[in-house]
Order: sequence, then C-alpha cells, then structure tokens
Amino acid sequence: MTDRHPSLDVTHWHLIHDVSLTAKQQSWLGECQSMTARFERHCGKVTIVPQREGFIGVDSLGEELTQLPDCERFWLREVLLCGDNVPWLFGRTLIPETSLTGEEVSLLTLGTVPLGRYLFKAAELTRDFIQVGEQGELWARRSRLRLSGKPLLLTELFLSESPLYGVNNEL
Ligand code: PHB
Repeated sequence: MTDRHPSLDVTHWHLIHDVSLTAKQQSWLGECQSMTARFERHCGKVTIVPQREGFIGVDSLGEELTQLPDCERFWLREVLLCGDNVPWLFGRTLIPETSLTGEEVSLLTLGTVPLGRYLFKAAELTRDFIQVGEQGELWARRSRLRLSGKPLLLTELFLSESPLYGVNNEL
C-alpha cells in the first residue's frame, strides 16, 4: 500500500444532475447512504488510514470557503479508505469550528473510525447538494452535509483501484 497521500486537485465542480454519467458512475457518485457500507459489500474489510487531522486557519483554504459559512478555523480530516488494504478513496472533510458544538464535538476524535459511522447514525443528517468533478482519469464528488443544520464539506476522490471503475456490472 502506498503511503504517499494523494492530493485533491479538481478544478471544475458540476451538480451531479448536470453531468452525463453511466448507470454505474451515477450509482456510486450519487450514493446517498454510507460510502463505507457500500465499499464493505466489495471487500472483506474496510480500514481508514488517517493522513491529516487538525485545525487549519482560513488563510490555508481556497475555493472550498465559498461552500461554507465564514469561520476563522476549520477542522480538517483527510483519510485513505482501503478495501482489503488497497486504497480505494481519498476523503477530505472540512468542518467550520462553529459546527463543532454539542454532539458534533465527537467529530474531533474519529481517528480510524469511518466518518459514515458517525454521520449515518446521527439523528438529523441532511445533504444540500452533490457535485461531481474529474481529476485526470479519476472521479471525485463533493457534498455539503448538515448535522442538525450545521454544515460540513466532504470531498471524496475515487482512486484507481476503487470498485467504481471495476469491469463487472455489479452496482
Ligand atoms: C472518513 O472516515 O473520513 C471517510 C470515510 C469514508 C468516506 C469519506 C470519508 O467515503
């Protein structure tokens, strides 16, 4: 397994409904339930390998800021999701500090626990949009989610070994 962490560099994001996708791409990129649970159907074991976790200042951020409310500090979490030890997805979560109140403080201590385990058992999860983008040959998607109304931005880059690109027709 590579320990070089992939970087995200998608220059154009489009609403998923505006992009022409195959049924398989649509099914993966439009997945509304937990992506971790989806990957678990394609391997023996999903593991999360944290790459970066910590607060970053507004000065270290760019275009993503346009998708989130103004805030001085953001919690950044970057992970590799691996299926049977093969990196399948690079995930980047950006959370304004103002969203980290109440139950949501547990987002600071996820470590190797998949984000979805937290999100999809949360009482009030909503999604404002899914955007889709391309990075070379790879697909990425970006969602703004809300936990009890408090926003976070989740970007997911599907790495080349991901079952999204698999030859079988299984969705
Ligand atoms: C994460 O644990 O940060 C995570 C897990 C699965 C994803 C994205 C992010 O699809």
